[in-house]
Amino acid sequence: MRPELDVTELSVLDDLHHPAGVVLQSEEAISRIFGSGRTLSLVNGASSGLKAVIMAYGDTGAVVIPRNGHRAILEGLILSGATPKYVCPQENEGLFVPAAPQAYEGFGDNHLLVMLAETYEGFVRDYSGLKTRNPILADEAHGGHLRFCSVPSALDWADYTVHGAHKTLGSMTQSGFLHFRRSDQVQRVRRELSLLVSTSPSWLMLGSLEQAAVWWRGFTDPEYWTKRCLRLKERIDGLPGMRAVHETGGSLFCDPFRLCIRLEQAADGRVLGNELQNRFGIELEMTNQGSLVAILTPFDPEGSWDKLYRALKELGRAYGLQDRFGTTAAWLPELPEQCMTPRQAHQADHRRVAMQSAEGHICADIVAAYPPGIPLLYPGERIGRQQARMLKALTEGASRTQGIQDGQILVVNE
Ligand SMILES: Cc1ncc(COP(=O)(O)O)c(C=O)c1O
Repeated sequence: MRPELDVTELSVLDDLHHPAGVVLQSEEAISRIFGSGRTLSLVNGASSGLKAVIMAYGDTGAVVIPRNGHRAILEGLILSGATPKYVCPQENEGLFVPAAPQAYEGFGDNHLLVMLAETYEGFVRDYSGLKTRNPILADEAHGGHLRFCSVPSALDWADYTVHGAHKTLGSMTQSGFLHFRRSDQVQRVRRELSLLVSTSPSWLMLGSLEQAAVWWRGFTDPEYWTKRCLRLKERIDGLPGMRAVHETGGSLFCDPFRLCIRLEQAADGRVLGNELQNRFGIELEMTNQGSLVAILTPFDPEGSWDKLYRALKELGRAYGLQDRFGTTAAWLPELPEQCMTPRQAHQADHRRVAMQSAEGHICADIVAAYPPGIPLLYPGERIGRQQARMLKALTEGASRTQGIQDGQILVVNE
């Protein structure tokens, strides 16, 4: 870290909100590397890009969103006042994958379609076959590198693509990209982005974004890395009780750099994750009861993948894992009754109630496990029996939850 690079707005620098100098040059260079119509650098995470686009469209109609979308999408709805319509994910051997393209058909005009292009687990959906006149916003926060691999990137089919560049591209934490297919949409969205972003952006962060893009421009051997990742996945497949995800079909793909391991039914991924952390010093991206998720990158130190493999092997042995793969399907509760828009519920008079007595009330907050930050309950939804059941499971299972405090959640005063 070189703190002398952390400068303030010197006159030779530029204005992120109205770039005309070095920021503009940097964004144009990044745009050329990704092949977009225009790219904006984000210093407030992928979240800020998602929210800004939703805000730009929010008052023109409804917003169609993936029910397994990140909370930033929901926050965009709260900020814009838009009415959500939902598309539910598909289930794939106990894991959720992005909805099929057909699920987004038939919504009529005047809708912003928001797609989850890549899930936390590394399932990538190619929506290029979707026929629609509606604008498309793709949350490809986890797939900034796909442009440089052989898997389809949302840049090929979305009007707006958001990358959490810090997740896989190697830029500084909190930095990201908002790519536009057409540059004539920039003004409209930038007005909203300016409401969300500091007037004192970090130059370190902005510089790291350009550096990361330049690094990926030089990433000329994706096949070599894809094969290396595949080899690791195949070695893990050979361990009892563990199966890496790497087969998909149709418009569904797997991110070669994402390692998602399905576990046999007697294993608990959260326990294995703690063991990896405490005994082996390995921090995974996410752990669930039935799966482990890690991000592989070309920046990983030599030997680190082997270290992970050996740790998994040892844990598998210690916990007596065997190939007892069940057929338990991932379960999504029925969509609850939507009584208010997320914004109305967010602004409504509210109070706290104990989770045990939450059923029947209208939720006033975002309730989610983090990671992955996918809301279980949206503000404005009436908590039904299935949601109450999920709330209980959430507090018992997830390591961190949002929207639950001291066993209580916020509900609307009716
Ligand atoms: C799918 C998805 N979209 C958006 C975000 C938000 O990204 P950021 O933390 O860069 O704001 C995340 C964060 O984990 C995410 O998983």
